[in-house]
Amino acid sequence: MNSSASNSNVVVASAPGKIILTGEHFVVHGSYAVAAAINKRARVTVSASKKQESQIVSEGIASPAFEDDGQFVVVKSVLAGACEEYGRPRRSFQVQIDSEIPQGSGLGSSAAIAVAASAALTSFMGKKLSNDQIWELATRAEKSVHGNPSGIDTRASLSGGIFLFNRKSGAKPIVIRGELQFLVVFSGKTRSTSELISRVGESRNMHPASFKHLAKAASFLSLQAVDALTNGDLQHLGCLMDLSQLSLSWIGVSSNELDDLIENLRTDGVLGAKITGAGGGGSIIALPKANESKSLLKKTSLDYVHAFLTSVPQEGLRWEK
Ligand code: PMV
Repeated sequence: MNSSASNSNVVVASAPGKIILTGEHFVVHGSYAVAAAINKRARVTVSASKKQESQIVSEGIASPAFEDDGQFVVVKSVLAGACEEYGRPRRSFQVQIDSEIPQGSGLGSSAAIAVAASAALTSFMGKKLSNDQIWELATRAEKSVHGNPSGIDTRASLSGGIFLFNRKSGAKPIVIRGELQFLVVFSGKTRSTSELISRVGESRNMHPASFKHLAKAASFLSLQAVDALTNGDLQHLGCLMDLSQLSLSWIGVSSNELDDLIENLRTDGVLGAKITGAGGGGSIIALPKANESKSLLKKTSLDYVHAFLTSVPQEGLRWEK
């Protein structure tokens, strides 16, 4: 925890984005899922300001912190929640957001910002929150933006690592055997998580029995993934990722472009490939064979600007200053 938080003029916190290996969407409806933090982070700097009006700033765009003008909704929701719990900050401030995670890419950009902002803003206000309190504040903000998030994204951003998650029992860290590296490819198509969550809700209402079986299967695949990870059985993990992709296609969150990308990677010999996050665009992950990560990245980067490798585990919330 940031011990010098209370009277500091500048507080900086950062948090990672995430990938989901199995169980996305179904986790909203109670299934188990497996998620991991990635090596791309969002950084939030809160500093005392001489200006009368507090501001939120990112990439040259500024917006008054206490005005609902449609900009920076996640940070504004965090701020509203923090004011409700702890009172309005007594000093003017500026919140600066710097993120390496593309927005709307399925890589947990808003959760990473929500976690870093919850930590930095409350610390600037002189409050020392426990990790669970930071998670609650960040997840509340995510709810106002995404409607019905499971909380898995904010858990990955806060705690880092790789873990099994469900809404009831929370996160259980997984101790992996051997090295684990994923290729992550952002398709370039952004989309809204809340829209996709509602679309899946509709598909559940239309086919309740089938959905129930798929939700059970998602839990099964996630529990199997824990075994594969603890045993270092990457072949099995890849197979579970492929099966997970089948269910995601069935509930309508894949697309022709994502299917083609996944198929090409399979042709290139990856152990498994699937959408990660809400889908409908966004990103995919692939599990390369040992020693093939770099060549696969090189090849994929010819067609996709946002392709990168991430190894697991990665650090969660970090106090930078
Ligand atoms: O696409 P993202 O990064 O917003 O991830 C959403 C993950 C879902 O399972 C679809 C929703 C959730 O809250 O669990």
